Formats: sequence, structure tokens, C-alpha cells
Amino acid sequence: MLWTPSDLAGNREPSYGASMDQPPPRKVEHQQTDRGYIPVYATGVVEQPWSGYTRTDHEVWDTLYQRQRELLPGRACKEFLAGVERFGLGDGGIPKFSELNKVLVKATGWELVAVEGLLPDEVFFDHLANRRFPVSWWIRKPDQLDYLSEPDLFHDLFGHVPLLLNPVFADYMQAYGRGGMKAFAIGPEALMNLTRLYWYTVEFGLMNTPEGMRIYGAGIVSSKGESIYCLDSPSPNRIGFGLERVMSTRYRIDTYQQTYFVIDDFAQLFNATRPDFTPIYAKLGAEPAHAAADVLDGDRVFTRGTREGFATGADT
Ligand code: PHE
Ligand code: CO
Repeated sequence: MLWTPSDLAGNREPSYGASMDQPPPRKVEHQQTDRGYIPVYATGVVEQPWSGYTRTDHEVWDTLYQRQRELLPGRACKEFLAGVERFGLGDGGIPKFSELNKVLVKATGWELVAVEGLLPDEVFFDHLANRRFPVSWWIRKPDQLDYLSEPDLFHDLFGHVPLLLNPVFADYMQAYGRGGMKAFAIGPEALMNLTRLYWYTVEFGLMNTPEGMRIYGAGIVSSKGESIYCLDSPSPNRIGFGLERVMSTRYRIDTYQQTYFVIDDFAQLFNATRPDFTPIYAKLGAEPAHAAADVLDGDRVFTRGTREGFATGADT
């Protein structure tokens, strides 16, 4: 996901997050600066250190997998559930990326690469633009099943990878990577607009299917609490997806979402994001952004949230 390094300083939503007092093991280099030595997370691709996983690591995977596998039928979209089955993510223990890649490369030409954690935006975009999906190799600790402050193996792999088997979604992710490189060159405001699109689709998207409202966002399917909340709670808004609407809406990183945007299918998402965003960035840059909880005239409202329990304070 597009957690930026600066996000790490703040709190994350309960979907991922817990306290920072027990950071997961990560390869860190130290760089001499005017302020002394500061840690720099490695940004390169590494080998998944599969034989280094402990019994506990494998048990954490199995526990999280079982929980979500029981919860998600009837909640997650069928494309996601099909991907989970096709990869055999529940065969027992942490999957080997090399095995998953045999399936993935053949299916859509995507490839998983192991990384230490969050990447700088431009490095992340470059991976996506080349159909490589970076997956954090380390997994959370047993006391972090419900809350973790940065994306780990379970979020990255279980949350994001199943949909990479879907041809339309796979193309969307690559197009997003290319669009990211473009936005990065345009400037920070364009990048913020694009980040909101990622947040409200790839991470927290819902889909209105003939069978009912379903989840496709990775940040939701990797969280037990939000998998229930996003569909069952009366508090949040559920609003039809609109490209400019989404790109101009701030989001919360410290709570469950206050608004979910709903697509009809992946083709709608892919087609809506086809146009050149350059003029859209220019237009949005001149207008104020909307608060996360706002409902606007012209919105296609599936549910107007009661806002009950909403945290006050700034949206990102
Ligand atoms: N069409 C977008 C652009 O021109 C690129 C993009 C595609 C961005 C898909 C996000 C998703 O910048
Ligand atoms: Co993510």
C-alpha cells in the first residue's frame, strides 16, 4: 500500500496497527547525517528468508488465514476468493513466494518480490509499472493479530496478491504504477490525489455485485474488524465511485474508514482511470479537498452513514 515513510511516525488504523514498541525485525542500515546516525530501511529486493521463519511465524499465518477464510465468503468479492483458492494460501504455513510465482507469472505476468517493508513512492511505482508486487517478507507477532502499525506479510500477501490473478485488476495495478511515476514527476499534490485513489480502491474498495455489497480492498480483507465493520456498521458512508470525487477526498489513517467508495466491477475502475490525469490534477489542485466523512450533492449514496463513533480530528 502507499504507506509513505512519514506515515510510520503516526498511528495507523486498527486494521493494521498496533503500537510501535515491538517493531518487527527489519534489515536496517544506518546513515551518518548532521543529526548523527539515522536508520534507513533497505529498499532493495531480498530473497524471502523462508527457512528462517519460526514455528510461531507459521502459526500466526495459519491463525490469520483461518480467521479470514471463515469470515470472507459472502463478504469478499468472488474474484478475491477465487484467487485465495487458486494460490492455495491455506495449505499450511507461510507460502513460498517462489511457488506462488509459478502460478502468478503464468496467469497474468505478475511476480512477487520480497522486500523489508514500505518503499519510497518512486521505487514502489517502478515495481508496479513492471508488474512486480513488493511483499514484506516478515510477519507480525502473535500479540499483533488485530493491530499492526505497518504492512506485514499477511497484509501484503493475503490482502493484495489474490486479485493479481484477475486480468483486469492486474492491468489496473500496472497502470497505477505508471501513473504514479507520472504523478511523482508532476509534484506532491498530484501524488496526493493519486494516493487517495489507491487508498479508496486498492486498499479500501467495495464492489456492488448482483449478489450484494462485497469487499475487494486489501486493507479490509486483511483485517477481521474492518471486514465486518465496512459492510455491517451503520456508521460509514458507502458512496458510488467517481474518479474526481475519490481523488479529492481525504482519508483517515487512524480509524476505520468513514466513507467507502463502491465500484460496480473492475472494468468500471479500469475504464474510469484510463484518461490522462494531468488536466485532472491541475483542476483538483485549484479546489479544496473534501473531508473523509462528507456526503456531497450528486453522490450516488448506497448508505448515508450515521457517523456514530467517528473520531474527530484531521483527515490525511
Ligand atoms: N490514467 C492515469 C494517468 O494518466 C494513470 C492511471 C491509471 C492512474 C490507472 C491510476 C490508475 O495518470
Ligand atoms: Co496494502
